[in-house]
Amino acid sequence: MSKSIRAFAPATVANVCCGFDILGFSVDAPGDEVVLTLKDEMGIVITSIEGDDGRLPKEALKNTAGVAVDSFLRSIGSNQGVEIELIKNLPLGSGMGSSAASGVAALVAINQLFGNPYTREQMIPFAMEAERIACGAAHADNVAPSLLGGFVLIRDYNPLDIVKIPVAKGLFCTLIHPHLELKTADSRRVLKPTVSLKEAIIQSGNIAGLMIGLMKPDYSLISRSLKDVIAEPIRSVFIPGFDLIRESVKAAGGLGCGISGSGPTIFCLSGIESIAHQAGEIVKQHFDKHQLQSDVFVSEINYEGAKIL
Ligand code: HSE
Repeated sequence: MSKSIRAFAPATVANVCCGFDILGFSVDAPGDEVVLTLKDEMGIVITSIEGDDGRLPKEALKNTAGVAVDSFLRSIGSNQGVEIELIKNLPLGSGMGSSAASGVAALVAINQLFGNPYTREQMIPFAMEAERIACGAAHADNVAPSLLGGFVLIRDYNPLDIVKIPVAKGLFCTLIHPHLELKTADSRRVLKPTVSLKEAIIQSGNIAGLMIGLMKPDYSLISRSLKDVIAEPIRSVFIPGFDLIRESVKAAGGLGCGISGSGPTIFCLSGIESIAHQAGEIVKQHFDKHQLQSDVFVSEINYEGAKIL
């Protein structure tokens, strides 16, 4: 058993417009890193966190990396002592799956240190526990794609039924992160508790269309299906000029765009890399006009999920 290990877990786009809480995918970069070291004394200790400006809790059971390791150790009945160093490359409250990536990187590392007793699928519930600490809801649409890679459907939560979607390679994702912060718990609180029959019908059509479009692949069908009538109409009020962003990205040849997870990051999907870069420029300029600085990341879809470095 190695004593110390470093792992990386990628950023994720949850919801992908029409798949609220049931669909997500991961990108190659950016992502969070964790260094885990086994120690002789009992207890989980977070020794350092880089890149969070001192804002994340160092108390292990309040931090997603610590909670993920704790859930893992309890499941195997171990009281092994562990030190965690967390390197946050993902901005907090960004909608890029920041809390999930820290938990997933820690899980992949501890699993490796213990000789991989669990498959990636089996670790999803541990990572979901960490999400519950972060935002009050144990949703899986960030942790599952960060662990498994690719596009992932959470067909059911009870019992958990995770389906990896066979997606043809060739899609590019642009993430544009405006320097605004939205807490997932707050972005969830504003949603309506019920949906109308009309909304359910539209949403079902789009999610089915998106699944088929991704698998064929049929870029026109993907483009027509990237619509959300449940969360985005409510959450988009937090993002200045959201409708204009959508129109401009499509006009430039992007397949479509939406709010990444609970926002405020915008994701765009494109079938051509140069368009993915152009979409990033368009959205960045849009935010500039609203006096909002933003960071742009262009990446292929990630197909492997978190990895040991
Ligand atoms: N599905 C979750 C939400 C993702 O939209 O609230 C949070 O990143």
